[in-house]
Amino acid sequence: MSERGTRLAAYLDQRRRLGEPGIVPGGLAPGELLGLLATEAERKTGAKKKAEVGVRAVVRAATRSRAGSEAKPVPPQLGTADYEELREIALACTRCRLAEGRKTVVFSDGNPAGRLMVVGEAPGADEDATGIPFVGQAGKLLDLMLASVELSRQESVYVCNVLKCRPPGNRNPRPDEIEACAPLLKRQIELVAPEVLLAVGLFAAQWLTGSTKALGKLRGEVYSYQGVPLVVTYHPAALLRNPGWSRLAWEDLQLMCQIMDSK
Ligand code: URA
Repeated sequence: MSERGTRLAAYLDQRRRLGEPGIVPGGLAPGELLGLLATEAERKTGAKKKAEVGVRAVVRAATRSRAGSEAKPVPPQLGTADYEELREIALACTRCRLAEGRKTVVFSDGNPAGRLMVVGEAPGADEDATGIPFVGQAGKLLDLMLASVELSRQESVYVCNVLKCRPPGNRNPRPDEIEACAPLLKRQIELVAPEVLLAVGLFAAQWLTGSTKALGKLRGEVYSYQGVPLVVTYHPAALLRNPGWSRLAWEDLQLMCQIMDSK
């Protein structure tokens, strides 16, 4: 995290200890401040806006096929693979077209024994180049969000994506790509066995909840994915584009913390 992010996280922590969780400099809510910081990052990168309608349609189709019949056969050992075997299966995967254009398979980052598992959408260019999820601008905001609730990937958070390979030009994942990759994520969740899952963005949220609702309708509730409590929030890239949603994201993080505190 940047020095600025570290200082912000420390400040938020201090306010929380003082019993003022909603107060940050300038009278902004913490999430709003995160959003403003993120806006600056957005100006630098010129992040592209995604078509929400297109996203919804794609995940709807993929969610259907999750429950449905057309899934390709998965490698037979995947369902019983241990963590290292699963990683190796993922690194060698050619089950969908994304294998052709990828530089790297982006399997995970953080602590596989972490309490919290964050599931995002798919690697972008930075992640494809490094093999590490959430290292670009959205990843920096994700780290800042985690730090604001005293969590870090180094210690207690495991981070991965629905798709392990980058869709060309950062286009939306296609249903058959999600379908091909889902068994990896399913086994990954079983093996990491987190206390709580945090789905960031529509693709992860819809796949994990099995719902086709819009993200704004999904957030604010606790779900169960195979018995693991699941909270849904906006993707940090969406927060970069829509700083006004940051307060809602902050509330989602508080909901997640309530579950973690109760464990
Ligand atoms: N967005 C994601 O959903 N995942 C990443 O790893 C990077 C950006």
